Amino acid sequence: MYTKPQRDARPGGHQSAPLPRTLVTGATSGIGYALAVQLAQAGVPVVALGRSQDRLQALQQRFPQIATVACDLADVAALPSLARQWVEQFPDLAVVIHNAGVQDNLRMDEVGYIAAQVRVEVDINLVAPMVLTQALLAHLQARPGATIVNITSGLAFAPKRTSAVYCATKAGLHLFSQALRLQLKGSGVRVVEAVMPLVDTPMTQGRGKGKLSAEQAARQVIEGLLGQQDTIWVGKARALPWLLRLAPGVLALAMARM
Ligand SMILES: NC(=O)c1ccc[n+]([C@@H]2O[C@H](COP(=O)([O-])OP(=O)(O)OC[C@H]3O[C@@H](n4cnc5c(N)ncnc54)[C@H](OP(=O)(O)O)[C@@H]3O)[C@@H](O)[C@H]2O)c1
Repeated sequence: MYTKPQRDARPGGHQSAPLPRTLVTGATSGIGYALAVQLAQAGVPVVALGRSQDRLQALQQRFPQIATVACDLADVAALPSLARQWVEQFPDLAVVIHNAGVQDNLRMDEVGYIAAQVRVEVDINLVAPMVLTQALLAHLQARPGATIVNITSGLAFAPKRTSAVYCATKAGLHLFSQALRLQLKGSGVRVVEAVMPLVDTPMTQGRGKGKLSAEQAARQVIEGLLGQQDTIWVGKARALPWLLRLAPGVLALAMARM
């Protein structure tokens, strides 16, 4: 469902917005919320996608310039036709940030952990970004400044013990980003991967120390988007390229304990 924005809070519209219209998935919480708010405050026309209608309404009440779309990304079959509707409603849509994600912290042999849960996590984290990319690509290829942003994780590079499916989805999204970048070379569509460290959000509530705030994480993603990088290493994830090259054993050991 589409909720029309009530007004453009910035006098003069979006003339000097640093990015064209941007769809942020998972914008009702954590990093996605911070991304949507910071982009909107910078004058970027934002479409916030979330599952919960109530949380979307709360977001729009606070930030009337943000448009919202309610959508369950686990319903993959519905995504192509929804994407067509969004493009009709927002013909200036040019940037898509695939941020929505879930993480089941479960061992594969956990009693009661059923196949349907595995499927839902893979669908939300990996299949939905790929299907939405496919559905939006023709439109994006005709838009100046078109950019596809995939939010991955340090766990795509060094897995932890307790969430094998999550690690697999993020590793998949990492390689999808790389392959898509090869496919779209010269097409005018930029493909960016933002690699997150541990960030303080509802997803990581009650675990981990030294977490980056969602606001700082979002700020670094936006700074990276305004720069030229293909990969935005956020916060402590900046150490990953170095660790993977020079001390992969140390990294694997540290992650395996988690
Ligand atoms: N937090 C970290 O430490 C960390 C580290 C590495 C990577 N990441 C990645 O960063 C991204 C954001 O994570 P976060 O920590 O900000 O998580 P979060 O606070 O739990 O927010 C997750 C968002 O995804 C949305 N979402 C979940 N399932 C959905 C579905 N079926 N359909 C539509 N939207 C759905 C949620 O919307 P509703 O609540 O409205 O359903 C929510 O807005 C994820 O891709 C995550 O894997 C996070």
